[in-house]
Amino acid sequence: MGSARTAGWVAAGLIVGVGAGFYLYRLSRGRQRTKRGVRPSGSAEDLTNGSYNDVLNAEQLRKLLYLLESTEDPIITEKALVTLGNSAAFSTNQAIIRELGGIPIIGSKINSPNHSIKEKALNALNNLSVNVENQIKIKVFVSRVCEDVLSSPPDSAAQLAGLRLLTNMTVTNAHQHLLSTAVADLFGLLLAANGNTKVQVLKLLVNLSENPAMTEGLLSAQVDASFLSLFDGHVAQEILLRVLTLFQNINNCLRVEAVQPPFPEGSLFSLLYGEECVQKMKALVNHHEVDVREKAVTIIPKF
Ligand SMILES: *[C@@H]1O[C@H](CO)[C@@H](O)[C@H](O)[C@H]1NC(C)=O
Ligand SMILES: *[C@@H]1O[C@H](CO)[C@@H](O)[C@H](O)[C@H]1NC(C)=O
Ligand SMILES: *[C@@H]1O[C@H](CO)[C@@H](O)[C@H](O)[C@H]1NC(C)=O
Ligand SMILES: *[C@@H]1O[C@H](CO)[C@@H](O)[C@H](O)[C@H]1NC(C)=O
Ligand SMILES: *[C@@H]1O[C@H](CO)[C@@H](O)[C@H](O)[C@H]1NC(C)=O
Repeated sequence: MGSARTAGWVAAGLIVGVGAGFYLYRLSRGRQRTKRGVRPSGSAEDLTNGSYNDVLNAEQLRKLLYLLESTEDPIITEKALVTLGNSAAFSTNQAIIRELGGIPIIGSKINSPNHSIKEKALNALNNLSVNVENQIKIKVFVSRVCEDVLSSPPDSAAQLAGLRLLTNMTVTNAHQHLLSTAVADLFGLLLAANGNTKVQVLKLLVNLSENPAMTEGLLSAQVDASFLSLFDGHVAQEILLRVLTLFQNINNCLRVEAVQPPFPEGSLFSLLYGEECVQKMKALVNHHEVDVREKAVTIIPKF
């Protein structure tokens, strides 16, 4: 029986090897992939050999998952998560990792108090989430990720990683209801966040706004009146176009869903369909960007 220390060393070699293999793969991507699928299940030595050049196989992924489960070393944990995340860029690996029971193992690392490890686990889950069957396994983590996003240091890497995962978990309507209770807090984060974080929160809210089942929850959320300043003409386009899309989507859903007012004072409904917002839309009809004008024009008749 190898001692824990020996296992650690072998494991570390494995990670270095896999990392190098992935790097070589990326470098040679433009050329013919002549070696595709020919290599047998890798030992640590095999994987550290610079000629290794392929998508990881099941045995290699199993070793990585075992390593992730057994190590307490934060450096190894982080490397294993990065290697698994990179390998999950390939759809075959997304399925293999799920079949090996890897999603709960990776998912458990989002509970790490170490923000760097938490972020890498979220990134790996994000790459895994591109697969519909994987989403069914990942959904158990959605509430936790949402709580984390709302309590993370503002604009931190872990917060952004969590928001990306939530966005990719909401590209279809299947799991959106898991975020129902967080809607008002997400609007709060939208208004408090900067740059990339703001855009990412908007991507998430835009996804929710396409779903008629979420419309009532969105419109009844208590939202600070400063939300309306996002419709000012000088707001960056990547933000302005997204808030307009959000508004458009909600209008479209109201048309099919027949959601019943009254919504409370201070709700998103009272902001979007109040007099101040009418004036903002009228001003945007003359915006210098055609995309902005077009969206404003489709929204205006709803008043
Ligand atoms: C690496 O792989 C090549 C080709 O598969 C082999 O010829 C070479 O001996 C290997 N090197 C080591 C150090 O295992
Ligand atoms: C967090 O993990 C990283 C490596 O993944 C490590 O360098 C760092 O020391 C850890 N921080 C703490 C507080 O344990
Ligand atoms: C995730 O996949 C993308 C490609 O889709 C890749 O660039 C990235 O490095 C992968 N890894 C992680 C940890 O996000
Ligand atoms: C998340 O979803 C977007 C949009 O569907 C996609 O372009 C992106 O590649 C996904 N992210 C990852 C890390 O796969
Ligand atoms: C969700 O957001 C992503 C990223 O912005 C986008 O690619 C996707 O089309 C959106 N899906 C829905 C249903 O809105």
